Amino acid sequence: MRRKNSPFLIPLIVVAVITLILTVILLIPDGGGEKTPEGKPPEKNDPVTEIKVPEVTFKSSLEEYEKYMNAKDEKYLVLVNKEHIVGVDFEPADRIDVKDTPKNGITLERTAAKALEAMFAEMRANGFNNVFVTSAYRSYDYQKDTYNGWVNYEMQSITSDARKVLGDGYIYEKYTSKGKSGLDRTDAERVADSYSARPGTSEHQTGLCVDLMTSTMSALDESFADYPVYDWLLENAWKFGFVLRFPEDKTEITGYSFEPWHYRFVGREHAYKMYSRGVCLEEYVKSLK
Ligand code: DAL
Ligand code: ZN
Repeated sequence: MRRKNSPFLIPLIVVAVITLILTVILLIPDGGGEKTPEGKPPEKNDPVTEIKVPEVTFKSSLEEYEKYMNAKDEKYLVLVNKEHIVGVDFEPADRIDVKDTPKNGITLERTAAKALEAMFAEMRANGFNNVFVTSAYRSYDYQKDTYNGWVNYEMQSITSDARKVLGDGYIYEKYTSKGKSGLDRTDAERVADSYSARPGTSEHQTGLCVDLMTSTMSALDESFADYPVYDWLLENAWKFGFVLRFPEDKTEITGYSFEPWHYRFVGREHAYKMYSRGVCLEEYVKSLK
């Protein structure tokens, strides 16, 4: 004799099928392509005002730093580059010592310095213990010496042995691993202009940016991009209000070669918008006009 089906069987099957369909729809990733950690990826053509900053969570306790990381003052968007020049007297009003550096006298604008402290705390919480700040605020005169130092360096004919002397001096930012023959002044300036800012054109003078190194690097160079912390920073620096200032694919726009070590504070909201749109500061500031 044929067994009679339960009266609940058909409704149960209907509910199960609907649940299955909904689950499949919800699990299909929407879009893709752009890097967004959570939520709907912004469309390339969305006005930046419509991009919403996702909730952020940290492994470390950073509540006290929230007001710094999330600072919204437009002054943190200041653009200083080869076209936007600042005067000899331009100096951030309120500078404090940077904690995560072995050097003395390294300072940053207060809010940027506190947001950086938070980023270092979270780097440590993620196992990145050997990162430090090698350069932050630089005065006009300091930048003048730095730039001239690089021009002189490009004019020098040096051997691999000689570079150590340069590396231990105030020229600590960059030196090549090979010996080289010297350039004439015009060519030396042209080469130096691709990686060092002339006085009045460096955003280091704003006190809003830092150069980072790891303790196993022998000099500040592109090898920073080979360390796992670089990948972590690419994905996470925006949460603390920082952006990679001179990306590899924006050299034509920024006017400088790739600097994986140089991070600029703009505040979380702007940082997220730049990160999610994949734009550099020049492009972002232009898009706001
Ligand atoms: N290295 C960057 C461009 C500076 O000198 O400010
Ligand atoms: Zn720098």
